[in-house]
Amino acid sequence: TKIALITGGYTGESEVSFKSAEFVYGQLDQSKYDIYKITITTDSWFHVGDNGVKYVINRDHFTLPMDGQVIRFDLAFIMVHGSPGEDGRLQGYFDMVRLPYTSCDALTSALTMNKAYTKAVLAGIPELYLAKSVQLFDAERADAIDLVRRELSLPYFVKPNAGGSSIGMTKVNAEDGLADAIEKAFNAENTGKQVIVEEFVKGREFSVGVYRRSGEIVVLPATEVITEREFFDFEAKYVPGLTQEITPADLTSEQRERVERLVKAIYVRLNCKGMVRIDYFLERETDHFYFIEINTVPGQTAQSFIPQQVRAAGMTETAFYGELIEQALI
Ligand code: DAL
Ligand code: MG
Repeated sequence: TKIALITGGYTGESEVSFKSAEFVYGQLDQSKYDIYKITITTDSWFHVGDNGVKYVINRDHFTLPMDGQVIRFDLAFIMVHGSPGEDGRLQGYFDMVRLPYTSCDALTSALTMNKAYTKAVLAGIPELYLAKSVQLFDAERADAIDLVRRELSLPYFVKPNAGGSSIGMTKVNAEDGLADAIEKAFNAENTGKQVIVEEFVKGREFSVGVYRRSGEIVVLPATEVITEREFFDFEAKYVPGLTQEITPADLTSEQRERVERLVKAIYVRLNCKGMVRIDYFLERETDHFYFIEINTVPGQTAQSFIPQQVRAAGMTETAFYGELIEQALI
């Protein structure tokens, strides 16, 4: 089986994508799969051979001309976080060139890349709570501050509405920090010029991987994130030691059952495929489940949650990634 392991991308998350692809590459069973790492940048889609030579993808049918032969792939293993790997663009392209891939389809990817639209679709699931939020559009930038003040109360989380890895995100504790935070979020590279401002939820923060195995939705053991920093920002995510991550999280059986039921409901309602990761809070006073966001190409760096959760479930990453490939090929 010939696999194109796709990495790179157009956003600040490309750095994370390289690490994720490196990790997945190291874990995939090389005796079973013939793996070609393909890097996607805004100017070029290419593979660097063992000889250091750069080979460029033929985008008409996603083949790789290499030293007089042409490599045709059986599957794209998408490890691009953010655009164009997590927002439906590559998915739409692979549909058109008829290459199976390991992620949600184009519609689900495009929808879930947009945090505010995703919340709108999930509203109404029993026992699922959503932090109050406002979606800001580029055309309304001048009124943004008034809009936020009218609708929400401090503290706020300000994020690019189609961003990831906390890039361009700020926790705002006082009104005078709002303008700069909104500006910063609007300016995050290739994130669609929309911003979401959410009310802070006081509670414990968790993240859980979900995937499908032979038609059945499987929920991995959740991770609790405890950080000394203001919030779980880019540094806290990728600098080892800044955050305590507890897998499996310490939850009561009632909490565990409720979380499982809710994340399965989210997976179904968003029509997910393959592996996704859902981030949520359990509010301190009420114990309500607050959905934060879903990641349809979740990080697979050595520091990321899903590898920890896979091991906590008693699997190896090699078996887990192999499973994702086999499911995507059905
Ligand atoms: N967006 C980052 C890569 C994650 O969800 O892990
Ligand atoms: Mg994310």
